[in-house]
Amino acid sequence: MFSSRLRDAAGPNRLAVALERRRAAGLEVYDLTLSNPTQAGFTYPIGMLAPLADDRSLCYQPEPFGMLSARRVVADDLARRGVSVTVDRTVLTASTSEAYSLLFKLLCDAGDAVLAPRPSYPLIEHLTGLDAVSLEHYHLEFHGRWELDLDELRAKARGRRVRAIIMISPNNPTGSVFTHDELDAVAAIAREHDLAIISDEVFADYAIADGRAASALHQEQALTFALGGLSKSAGLPQVKLGWMAIGGPAGLVNDAMARLETICDAYLSVSTPVQVAVSDFLSMGASVRVQIQERVRDNYQRLTALAAAHPTCTVLPVEAGWYAVVQIPNFVSEEAVVLELLDEAGVLVHPGYFFDFEREAFLVVSLLPQPDVFASAVEALLQYIGSRR
Ligand SMILES: Cc1ncc(COP(=O)(O)O)c(C=O)c1O
Repeated sequence: MFSSRLRDAAGPNRLAVALERRRAAGLEVYDLTLSNPTQAGFTYPIGMLAPLADDRSLCYQPEPFGMLSARRVVADDLARRGVSVTVDRTVLTASTSEAYSLLFKLLCDAGDAVLAPRPSYPLIEHLTGLDAVSLEHYHLEFHGRWELDLDELRAKARGRRVRAIIMISPNNPTGSVFTHDELDAVAAIAREHDLAIISDEVFADYAIADGRAASALHQEQALTFALGGLSKSAGLPQVKLGWMAIGGPAGLVNDAMARLETICDAYLSVSTPVQVAVSDFLSMGASVRVQIQERVRDNYQRLTALAAAHPTCTVLPVEAGWYAVVQIPNFVSEEAVVLELLDEAGVLVHPGYFFDFEREAFLVVSLLPQPDVFASAVEALLQYIGSRR
């Protein structure tokens, strides 16, 4: 009766079951998987959501790409990041996840493939599956920094049914960013094989190391869609607004925009109130963004300082984003370690295999939790790993 897109839908994993059990027993959990900024103790400006009640929203004027006024605000905000894009090359979406889905419809027939980095964000697998697109990986390898295997990417880009290369920069969870040279090399590959680039830049505001993550839009060789949204830029995942900015050869951009218009017109999924409010959200959201920036930088420093006293644990360098990766000894499986950490130390942390790390053992730590919770959780984690040997 049901679509095969959902054939791999599994029940809750063992970690989710153990968490449920612990919570039901009323036991404390130090959550190092936190990814929701609205639950991380940041101070949101009073009345921040009041602009949603603006009377201008009473008038509905459906626009496939979103209201011009809102798209202008988004183009201006991209300029803040040094990304120059004209309003007519912006498209509003309900979220970044929805932007992926619209792009898969634009670029792929059922059974076509896209290439995405490994390790990376697990939702990509579900998003491709839900659009009947297959997912193939190219590897990021850690050699002091996470490097792209260009030869592998080049070989995979030749695949007959490959339609696009997904880049996630800053990447979740490695915190790595593509250099200008890497972006140019990927764009050359995409151009050679008539592939589009989908560049997920949702974490671009959160540099931890010096410098700023380059946008894939800095090149014009390949048709490129750069994705962002309020969920990360203003810490507002609940208001549901994402966007894409499109660049590349003019003819291809025009063709893509014409087709995207048809797709977006079928859904018209972005609400009018959020479009009317986006200017206020981005200006008020600046203070939230600054708090998140400070939090993730401070927690990353805290993590490296605490780990320095535990030679069995190595914190891999993070360039940007909300997550860090801790390499631990490979004494038992990652799954066993995260279950033990939860049961015995009350610390909830994601194992590397959730993100398709090539080998074990890695733990992924969110840098969002409040400093005292973060420090206690990290200390408990490090002590547990140290004692486990
Ligand atoms: C790399 C990456 N892209 C996209 C998203 C989803 O963003 P949105 O809430 O705009 O759908 C996330 C959420 O964590 C993410 O980590």
